[in-house]
Amino acid sequence: MTALLKTARPEDVFQDLFRTHESDQVGSKYRKRLAQVAITNGKSLIIDFDDLISFDPALARSLVEKPDDYITYASSAATAQMRVEDPEYAEHVGKIFARFRRLPEKTALRKIGAEPRYLEVRLEDDLVDSARPGDRVSVTSIVRAEKQTVGERGRLRTFNIYLDANFVDVVGKETEVVEITPEDEKKILEVAQDPWVQRKLVMSLAPSIYGYEDVKEGILYLLFGGTAKQLPDGVNIRGDENVLLIGDPGTAKSQLLQYVSRIAPRGLYTSGRGTTAAGLTAAVLREKTGGMILEAGALVLADKGVACIDELDKMRPDDRVAIHEALEQQTVSVAKGGIVATLNARAAVLAAANPSLGRYEPHRNVSENINLPVTILSRFDLIFIIKDQPEADYDTRMSEHILALHRSRVSPETAPFAPDFLRKYISYAKRIIPVLSSEAVIELRDFYLKMRAKGGAEAAVAITPRQLEALVRISEARARAFLRDVVTVEDAKSAIRIMTVSLSDVGVDVKTGAMDIDVIMTGKPRSLRDSFQRVIETVAEMERETGTVEETVLIAALVDKEKMEEREARRLIGQLIKEGILYSPKPGRLKRTAG
Ligand SMILES: Nc1ncnc2c1ncn2[C@@H]1O[C@H](COP(=O)(O)OP(=O)(O)OP(=O)(O)O)[C@@H](O)[C@H]1O
Ligand SMILES: [Mg+2]
Repeated sequence: MTALLKTARPEDVFQDLFRTHESDQVGSKYRKRLAQVAITNGKSLIIDFDDLISFDPALARSLVEKPDDYITYASSAATAQMRVEDPEYAEHVGKIFARFRRLPEKTALRKIGAEPRYLEVRLEDDLVDSARPGDRVSVTSIVRAEKQTVGERGRLRTFNIYLDANFVDVVGKETEVVEITPEDEKKILEVAQDPWVQRKLVMSLAPSIYGYEDVKEGILYLLFGGTAKQLPDGVNIRGDENVLLIGDPGTAKSQLLQYVSRIAPRGLYTSGRGTTAAGLTAAVLREKTGGMILEAGALVLADKGVACIDELDKMRPDDRVAIHEALEQQTVSVAKGGIVATLNARAAVLAAANPSLGRYEPHRNVSENINLPVTILSRFDLIFIIKDQPEADYDTRMSEHILALHRSRVSPETAPFAPDFLRKYISYAKRIIPVLSSEAVIELRDFYLKMRAKGGAEAAVAITPRQLEALVRISEARARAFLRDVVTVEDAKSAIRIMTVSLSDVGVDVKTGAMDIDVIMTGKPRSLRDSFQRVIETVAEMERETGTVEETVLIAALVDKEKMEEREARRLIGQLIKEGILYSPKPGRLKRTAG
């Protein structure tokens, strides 16, 4: 018997699929979808590629080989079937687009064009606005090339490659799934039993970078993170920890940041200067065609991950304003050029900055040392100062470390855990939601109250509720490092220790030697604020007698009556001029701005 060769038109095969494909006992999946399209006033029928494969593998293959033709066939079929389902709606929309999703083969962007990072994706019709900045998307598209003409004579130069989208599937922004096999889990649980596990985790962090135990411990807590809390009144408290490194040039800050961006789930490394127009937060840009588009910056792209921002002090003025909101509320709001949007930026931030004077000047306070306003500094849970001080012992060990590293190309320190395992361990631990034990609460409360009590009228020590929240986050992160769902008193103690290290790094009052959070909150330690006050009062007194004040006379008065050193007096005056509190009406003379 001769086989009857029946060549069905592709349109008919597609329509057959739409009519008959059964997803359950109740009816056809695609007929239901078409009904849905009509109800929601839609224009697209979404087709799961899997269905096509099982229905007619040859057709599925043809679609991939000749997408233009076969998408057209499928669209005609979808339109025809809509005429059956809902003739009135079919009449109304005119045409239904066939859009395909979940193709088995995925291509990373960098594999397409010669340049990997940017690629234009063109969305038309109802696909416009189907994704928002920062969304992770899987795009079904046809790669197209168009001639680029340059100049008046339109000479051909290059081809411009772009993606012509057929469907945009917003995959959502779940934490990147690090695959953990049952064997991995077994090892993770085993390792967590080790009483030294937290120590070993710290040792495994960037083993090629010598020293910096405290900094690495702080970063480890950042990687595990605390838990975000949503209060019944709608207020959100961030669970992500922010860490800032302020350090002399060449102290491996960039290296640390790059390492962390590689190890952290959804890690991202960027410079404060910004590598895209959107910078750290977001930007509204004008397109060539005249329309306005919203572009997501690094903190939005790092949503649910870790943003490593190098050279934070060099960020752009726009970012300087917007980053306040991003660091505390973890959102980025935009209202510009007709675009109003709030984007999520739920990222832990590890930032690095250089001292404004090139090197960290120990006799100046932290805000004088860095070109960042205190309002930004205060949003960091931990700030570490990395000074490049020659110290014979340390230098010997460090140079041996670096030389050994260069000779053997492997780190001389043996890391207890490999980066891969570290990544898995962190990702596993982040599922745990630890709860504070009552002992931990007491420990944290006592520390907080003790520090607050010292901040009476004269004493220089005070901490704010921000530090208390940071302590909770750090304690929770440490509990996670042990895979514990209870925050113990040891966790609280460790959090207090690392917080104290950071506070004394930034807050040592150069005069009293006491810790002074005022430095971070107001930019000046209390004793320094008093000194400023004394200078201003002296100026006020002299103004009453002479109108303006001669600088040399003022300095002499400060040295005489206020027992200041001349250098100190000059520095305070200089700072007050910089802050606009004093000004110089003519050379050598001073006056208060608001007298
Ligand atoms: N403690 C250290 N252990 C190992 N290598 C170090 C250490 N300190 C500095 N280095 C090496 O010094 C070089 C400079 O480091 P890096 O570029 O990260 O410095 P940086 O702090 O970012 O400096 P800058 O502020 O100028 O950007 C790197 O090759 C780094 O590996
Ligand atoms: Mg650097």
